[in-house]
Amino acid sequence: MRAGVGVCGLWVVALGVLGVWGSGVGAWGSDDELLPWDAAAEREHAGCALVFGPAASALGASLRPWLTEQVPQQGLVVAYDLMQDSDALVYPPRPRAQSCLGAPPSRPPPVAFPHALNAAALPQFLELVNAACGTFLAPDGGLTALGRAVKDQQARLFYPARHAEACPELDAASLDSARFWRDYILPARPVILRGLLADSVAMTKWSNEYLRQTFGTQAVHVKFAPLGQFEGIEDAGLWNARPERIPAAVRAQLAHPELVVVRPAHRDMALRHFLDFVETARVVNRTATAYLEYTEMAAHFPALLPDLPPLPITAELPLRHQNLWLSDGHTRGKMHFDPFENILAMVSGQKRLFLYAPTNNSLLGEGHIPEAELTYYPHLDEFRRHRLQEATAMVMAAVDIEAPDFADRHPLLVQVPYLDCTIQPGDALFMPAFWWHEVQSQPDADEHRNLAVNYWYEPVWTREFPCPTCDRVYNRHIYGDALLRHQAQDQPHTPPAPSYSHHQPH
Ligand SMILES: *[C@@H]1O[C@H](CO)[C@@H](O)[C@H](O)[C@H]1NC(C)=O
Ligand SMILES: *[C@@H]1O[C@H](CO)[C@@H](O)[C@H](O)[C@H]1NC(C)=O
Repeated sequence: MRAGVGVCGLWVVALGVLGVWGSGVGAWGSDDELLPWDAAAEREHAGCALVFGPAASALGASLRPWLTEQVPQQGLVVAYDLMQDSDALVYPPRPRAQSCLGAPPSRPPPVAFPHALNAAALPQFLELVNAACGTFLAPDGGLTALGRAVKDQQARLFYPARHAEACPELDAASLDSARFWRDYILPARPVILRGLLADSVAMTKWSNEYLRQTFGTQAVHVKFAPLGQFEGIEDAGLWNARPERIPAAVRAQLAHPELVVVRPAHRDMALRHFLDFVETARVVNRTATAYLEYTEMAAHFPALLPDLPPLPITAELPLRHQNLWLSDGHTRGKMHFDPFENILAMVSGQKRLFLYAPTNNSLLGEGHIPEAELTYYPHLDEFRRHRLQEATAMVMAAVDIEAPDFADRHPLLVQVPYLDCTIQPGDALFMPAFWWHEVQSQPDADEHRNLAVNYWYEPVWTREFPCPTCDRVYNRHIYGDALLRHQAQDQPHTPPAPSYSHHQPH
């Protein structure tokens, strides 16, 4: 995951926290707060837990088989203990460390059920459990209506069937937001939207000359990488890394301690100097490629936003970021995923993307990989391997599909179906959240540049990471019962599908 990677504490800080780990105090509170059930069990268990007090323990015991059957993936634990204040406590699952391995993420505190827990209060109790644990439990012993719709939709998620399968595509003008939601977003099905930006003023107005005149003196944050390779992996041994300095507890979280993700060098510079660099790339034989990557337009180029009004087809989706990407067109964005629904639209040049479904995560080697940062010396046109960033570790793929020994090293991955998608100026690619992708850019013939805009929206299907075996789940926190409402609109006269019937109590 490339977005949202933050800086976290250095080892100095991490070591302080590690000191606490060994002392028998829970990672998320004092021993007092752990009293309702065994503190050691709590540390071991990452999933949801329900703890019943004496007054509710008979009800808890009767629910236990049903609860554990309904939520096997969560590893739900049902326990009983003496509690003074509440009949039931719900412990939400522990979040995973996503970018900072220095300190373990803290677990949200348990939520106490505020009423007496008896059969009459069961619906309210299940609402609490569903919200905290991501379940869809209904008092009748089955799933809620939303839970049934989610289950049904989950079975219809899209996967490529063939190697290098051609990306589905359609004429963007033929699409409305209801159809986009139903046929592409809900089934998480990538699609090329031909001509989505064809009539946009951005297509003609955003020449290098215009950008230079309008924003030339504005500072931009530019990334530099050798031979256009951005955020690839390489052997950690090249970085003079001393693994023995990494505390064992942190090293244990690294899926690939033998690798590093090479972060590009970076430099703040005036946009006109960046454009000079891009425009001279053809005539100066440089090692370095400069890239204005995922540059948030609202923060850095608000004056360009009116040229790109919100996309009508994504009316259903809350927008999180709208970014600009500009380079000389000789870049490779190496394999990664982003936790957002993504619409990537070309203004100049083309991009070819290789898309792998977010279910082949183990084969792609999903996991924390230490980050290493390059330094660029412009006068020498040289990169130095500068620094292993010790406390952060990106979640990345541990494979390079362009490496000469790719097939030998990853014989199983070679067989995995994937999509091969190329977008031209005016086109856009819808890429569902968490799909792995490598992006290979090409310049356009006129301006010798590659310019794209992308829209990141809240994911409809989300998932834990790093967790190669975690499948996607419906993002109810953002989308609520939107899934149900659309189903009702789409099929106003269709009775519930018979395949649901086996979830009903008998
Ligand atoms: C560019 O530089 C590389 C490495 O220094 C060299 O191999 C290549 O021949 C050069 N290309 C041109 C067109 O000068
Ligand atoms: C890749 O993912 C697909 C879709 O879930 C699955 O059917 C297939 O078994 C996976 N392949 C491997 C080798 O894991």
